[in-house]
Parts: sequence; C-alpha cells; structure tokens
Amino acid sequence: MERKKDVKILVVDDEDYMREVVRTALEGAGYEVEEAGDGKTAVAMIRQYPYNVIITDLRLPGLTGEVILEEALALFPETIVILMTGFGNIQSAVEAIRKGAYDYLPKPFQLAELVMRVEKGLEEHQLKSENRMLRGELQEKYSFANIIGSSAAMQNIYRLIRVVAQKTSTVLIEGETGTGKELIAKAIHYSGPRKDQPLVSVNCGAIPSNLLEDELFGHVKGAFTNAHQHRIGRFEQANHGTLFLDEVSNMPMDLQVKLLRVLQEREFQRVGSATTIKVDVRIVAATNGNLLEQVEKGDFRGDLYYRLNVIPISVPPLRQRRDDIPQLVGHFIEKYCAEQQLRLKRVSHDAIRALMGYEWPGNVRQLENSVEMAVALSGDRDLLDLEDFPVVSRRPSKPEKFDTIEIPDDGIHFNTMISELERKLILQSLQIARGNKKRAASLLHLKRTTFVEKLRRMGMDAPDEEIAEA
Ligand SMILES: Nc1ncnc2c1ncn2[C@@H]1O[C@H](COP(=O)(O)OP(=O)(O)OP(=O)(O)O)[C@@H](O)[C@H]1O
Ligand SMILES: [Mg+2]
Repeated sequence: MERKKDVKILVVDDEDYMREVVRTALEGAGYEVEEAGDGKTAVAMIRQYPYNVIITDLRLPGLTGEVILEEALALFPETIVILMTGFGNIQSAVEAIRKGAYDYLPKPFQLAELVMRVEKGLEEHQLKSENRMLRGELQEKYSFANIIGSSAAMQNIYRLIRVVAQKTSTVLIEGETGTGKELIAKAIHYSGPRKDQPLVSVNCGAIPSNLLEDELFGHVKGAFTNAHQHRIGRFEQANHGTLFLDEVSNMPMDLQVKLLRVLQEREFQRVGSATTIKVDVRIVAATNGNLLEQVEKGDFRGDLYYRLNVIPISVPPLRQRRDDIPQLVGHFIEKYCAEQQLRLKRVSHDAIRALMGYEWPGNVRQLENSVEMAVALSGDRDLLDLEDFPVVSRRPSKPEKFDTIEIPDDGIHFNTMISELERKLILQSLQIARGNKKRAASLLHLKRTTFVEKLRRMGMDAPDEEIAEA
C-alpha cells in the first residue's frame, strides 16, 4: 500500500456526482485524488503537476477529453490516461487510444473495474520503466565505449566521469572545440542515477540571445506578442535529470544573473510569470574558451563561474594525446565503413604516422571528418594511404599572416576589424563549400550551429530548422 501514496490521480468530469463516486473508489484503494470539473481547469492543473493517472470524461464542456489527452501526453508522455465514454462514443474512444490513451471505460461501469484498470496501468508502467532501466545500463556501457582513447589523460577523464556521475554537483567541462565535451557530458548523465531521466541540451551559442531566456525558462501565455501558449523551458524539461549548458561562455550577462539564481536557489520563474518554480536539475556546462580569462576580462560573472566550476573537467586537445590517434582512426574507419556499407578498410603505417604528427586544430571532430572523407573517396581500395588524407599530406596551408596589419596613428577599431575578418572567412568558406553550410563550418572548424548563428547575425538568414537539427 505504501507506494500508492506517490500516485496522484486527476479525475475530470463535469458531473459532480460522477467525480465524487470515482474519487471515493480511488481513495478507498489508497490513491491520492484531485478533481477538475471542466477541461480548462484540467489543462491548467496538468501544466502544474505531472499526474500519474488522468481519468477523464470524453465529452466535457469547453475542451474535450481528447484535448486533455493531447496536452497531458505532450507535457508528460508517461501519463496514463483513461477515458470515460458515454453511449455511442466508442469510435472517439478508439481514436483516443490510437493517440496514446491507455484505456477507456464505457459508461456506466463498475467502480471495481475502474480501480482494476488503474492498477493494471500503473503495473505496466512500472514494468516499462524497469525495462528502461535495463536499457539504461546498456546505454552506460555504450556511452563509455563510445569514448575512445586510452592515453593517461583520457583514463583520468574516465575516472572523473565515474566519480562525478554519482553526484549532483555542477560540472564544468573545458576543452577546445571537437575534443569530445558533449560525449563526456552524455557519459556523466548516462552512468549516474539520473540516467532514466531526461538529458536536455541547450547550446547557448547557437540560440539568438534574445530567445535564450525563453528557451531556458519557458513562458506563460501572453508573456509577449507571440506567446499564444504556455511553454515550458529546458530547465523544467530537465527536472530530475541533467541540463547540459553547451558553450556557456556565450550566455549574455543578464541571463548569467538568472542562471546564477537557479544554481543557488534551484528555482526560477517562467517569462511573464511571478510564480516560482522549483526544479531538481543537475547542471553540466561546457565551454571551449578559457572561462576564467573571460571572467578576468569582465565578460563573464565571477560568481557564476565559481558556481559552475565546482567540478572542473579539462579535456586536453588531441595534439597533447597523440597516442590516442591510431585507436580513434581505427574506430572511425569501422564506423564509416559500416555506415557506408563497405568492406572494412585498413590504413597504412605512413598515413598513421602522418596523422599522429598533425596538429588537429579541430581535434577529434576534425580527425573524424578526415576519416569519413577518406573512407568515402577511396572507392573500392582496401588500404587507406597518405593521399587519402589531404589535410596531412598537403603541405600545411599557412594561415594568414596577421602580423602585417599595421595600426595607423589614429588607431584602429578593434571590433570592426574582427567582424570584417569574420565576415571574410565566412563568405570565403561558403564559396569554397559551394553554399554547403555543414562543409563551410567544418572548413573553419566551427560547429554548424555556431556557423549558422554567425550567418544569421550577419543578416544572411538561415531557416530555423537548420539550427535546431544540428
Ligand atoms: N574520445 C572520443 N572518442 C570517440 N569520438 C570522439 C571522441 N571525442 C570526440 N569524438 C567525436 O568528435 C565529435 C566532436 O565531439 P563533441 O561534439 O563531443 O566535441 P565538443 O568538445 O563538444 O566540441 P565543440 O566545442 O565544438 O562543441 C563527435 O562526433 C564525437 O563523437
Ligand atoms: Mg560541444
């Protein structure tokens, strides 16, 4: 009986008498019950609390039971929704089952029958989450096996992951672009006790800064011109799980204050609302710049930095762990041969030597891209050789010489110069890549999301879905 106390059931019906008898039966079986007399109230309650079970009449004044079903499943896909249907409504009930309702009961029904269906629903739900837990254990293995490299530096990182995964302390992962920060964040989540809860990522660098607050904290209806609906933010989505704040160094100052508050108080408000929402979220943040330097320059709040930097994990660039390169190359060859349905290829000693000697400014991501290209372009040859890796076999292209920029007597406008250079690089990379943004981004060793956001800031608009999907 003890466990039933944790189960909260919402009963929705416009007939007081109906709610009353259902409530009594369920309470008699040991469940906690709340009631709503119409659809609107029900939806408002669902948005406030993740009920385990919702028992609703199909026909209601205002909103129908179908809308309640959709709303509940959109917010909490695990909700068990049972519909009570009047005479002649079987068709809609079946339709609702197709949409994800757990069961339906034609009126009139025996109360014992209702209690039994609820019990059965909860039991199946329990089984499902146990299964998921098993899968989660596989996932843990997987997400660790996913990180390749046995250099001392990487072994240190594995040890750290194992330890911090068991805690809720905030983790700050620092490392150059492409070093595997996101992989590490996933490994932390999936090897800890929160692995069956959501892992939610926010790329603070790819979301335009004016939208970031909304993204993180959500909004209430009417908070701004286009806020036609409530929307929960990433913090709420990540409740009981992990929130991965990627490229946290790009967070605008005003949001840094709000983030600090969430880290301190574990509570926040949706945009446009005064109601305080409490969350239990584990934060893993990542940055590819040196955050402390940014603090010293005044671009990042010191107090926030110390709140984030509770457990630092610093991922060394690939050029400082070259011993990992052969293993990584082998792993990526396997991956891309399988993906492209090719016979497994080998790689020559010369090529390996050259790959180990290269600087890899884009780190593992760049190495992975090179291997993918080599596999794709080598046709039916089984042996990958030096010429299959143009980055290392071509004589290194000298980067622009910047020391020739003269500063005139009346000075130079720093920000204008930098933006101009950025603009040139972006346009040139797009030209070389013939407009393919993914390739252009990888030419600059940028993530595509970062690249697309830069394009957007330059006024060269990219459709939204491109940002979301990367
Ligand atoms: N140790 C590793 N083993 C296997 N794959 C790796 C490793 N490190 C990175 N990768 C791969 O390299 C790519 C980049 O990794 P990831 O996205 O985690 O890097 P990142 O540090 O988050 O980069 P950025 O700062 O640009 O976001 C991914 O495809 C990832 O799977
Ligand atoms: Mg990343």
